[in-house]
Amino acid sequence: MAKTKRDAFGSKIGIIAAAAGSAVGLGNIYRFPCELGNNGGAAFLLVYLAIVLVLGVPVMLSEFIIGRRSQANAVGSFKKLAPKTFWPIVGFMGVFCGFVILAFYSTVSGWTLEYICKSLMNGFHGKDLAILEQEFSDFHNMGWKNVMWQAFFIFMTGFVVFKGVQKGIEKYSKILMPMLLVILMVLAVRSATLPGAKEGLAFLFHPDFSKLNGEVLISALGQVFFSLSVGMGALITYGSYIQKNDNLATTALSVTLSDTLVAVLAGIVIFPAAFSFGVQPEAGMGLVFNTLPLIFNQMTGGYVFCLIFFVLLAVAALTSTISLLEVMVAYLVEEIHIKRKWATVFACAATMCLGVFASLSLMDNTPFVIGGKTVFDGLDFLSSNILLPVGGMLIVIFVGWYLGKKKFYEEITNGGQLKIRIKTLILFIIKFVAPLAIAIIFIRGLGLFN
Ligand code: PHE
Repeated sequence: MAKTKRDAFGSKIGIIAAAAGSAVGLGNIYRFPCELGNNGGAAFLLVYLAIVLVLGVPVMLSEFIIGRRSQANAVGSFKKLAPKTFWPIVGFMGVFCGFVILAFYSTVSGWTLEYICKSLMNGFHGKDLAILEQEFSDFHNMGWKNVMWQAFFIFMTGFVVFKGVQKGIEKYSKILMPMLLVILMVLAVRSATLPGAKEGLAFLFHPDFSKLNGEVLISALGQVFFSLSVGMGALITYGSYIQKNDNLATTALSVTLSDTLVAVLAGIVIFPAAFSFGVQPEAGMGLVFNTLPLIFNQMTGGYVFCLIFFVLLAVAALTSTISLLEVMVAYLVEEIHIKRKWATVFACAATMCLGVFASLSLMDNTPFVIGGKTVFDGLDFLSSNILLPVGGMLIVIFVGWYLGKKKFYEEITNGGQLKIRIKTLILFIIKFVAPLAIAIIFIRGLGLFN
C-alpha cells in the first residue's frame, strides 16, 4: 500500500497555537475555578502551580518526544518505538480516555452555544443572581436541548478534524487564542475593581494550608493534567506533526505558560466577582455560567463583551475537542486503516452515544447515576483523577527508562543542534521525580494509604 504523506504543522507559532489551543479550554475557564472553589482556594492554587512546573512540563515534553520521534498516533507511536512489548496499551488507554473526556466535555461545550444565543438576545440583562441560577438549572432540566447543542458541537468538531491538521486546526487556533487572552484581561480588571472584590482576591491568593489533604492533592494533579491536555496522547498525536528542527523544550514551556496564565486569569475574573455578588465559591457548575453574566451587567458595553466572551469560550472549547477527537481519528486512520472521513464519523457517533448520558445525567431526578455520582461526574472523575495520572506516569517512565538517555538527548537537542543546558536535570525529573511524585499523590488521593 502506498504511504500517504503525513499532515504536519506549517510553522513554529502554529504548533504552539495548536497545542495551546488544545490545552486552553473549558478546563481553564470552567473547570479550574470549580476545582479551586471546592478545594479551598489559594492553597489549591499553590499546589497546582507546583505540580504544573514539576510534573506538567516533563510529561508534556515526554509526549512531544514520543510523538515526534515516532511520527505516529498515540497507539502507533508505542508500537514503533517499543515493538513487541506491552507499551502500546498506554496508547490504547489514551484513546479510550480521549473518548471518555470528549463525552462529558461536549456537554459543557454545548452550553457555550446556548449562552451565545442567550447573549445575542440580551437574555441576561438586568437579571440578578437568583434568576440566573434558576434559569441555569431550568436549562439543565431540558435534557433534549442539552443533547442537541452537544451533538451540534461534536458535529463542528468533526468538521474541522475532517479538514485536517494544517488547514483546520492550525488556522483557527492562531487567531482566536490571543483574542481570548485579551478579553480575559479586560474582564479581570473589571472584576478585580468591583466593590467587595478584595475578599475574592484573598480567597485566591492567601493560602490556608490546613485545607490541604490527599484529596486536594489528587484534585490538583488531575486538574493540571486535564488542563495541560497531558496523560492521554493528545500531545503525542500533535507532537507527531511537529517538525524535526523545532525546539520541543521551549514549545512545551510556552504551551504550559499560556495555559497557566489563562487559568490564573480566569480565577482573577471569577472569584472577585463571585464574592462581590454573593456567589458561593463552591457553586460548582454555576460559578462561571452565572457569575460572568453578572459582571457583564455591570459593565459599559456589557452586551458586546458578553457575546464576544461566550464566542471565544466556545472556540477555546472547540480547539480542545478537536485535539480530543484527533487522537481517536489518527488512531483509526493509521492503525485500523479507515478513511479519514469515516473515521471521523465513527468517532463522533461513538462519542455521542456515551455523551447523551452525560448530558441527561444533570437533570433533576435523573436515572443516570452510578455509585452516587452522575454519569457526568463519574466520567470526569475516571478520566481526570485516574486515567490521566496513570497515563502520565507511564509516559514519563517510558521516556525515562525505556527510550533512555541517548534517545532522550537526541530528541531534545535535535540531534545535537540545540544547546539545552538543563537537559540532565530534565532527564532526572522525568526518570525519578515525576513517576514517584505522581504515584504518591495518586495512591494518597485515592485513600489507599495515609
Ligand atoms: N486541556 C483541555 C482543557 O483544559 C481539555 C483536554 C484534556 C483536551 C485532555 C485534550 C486532552 O479544556
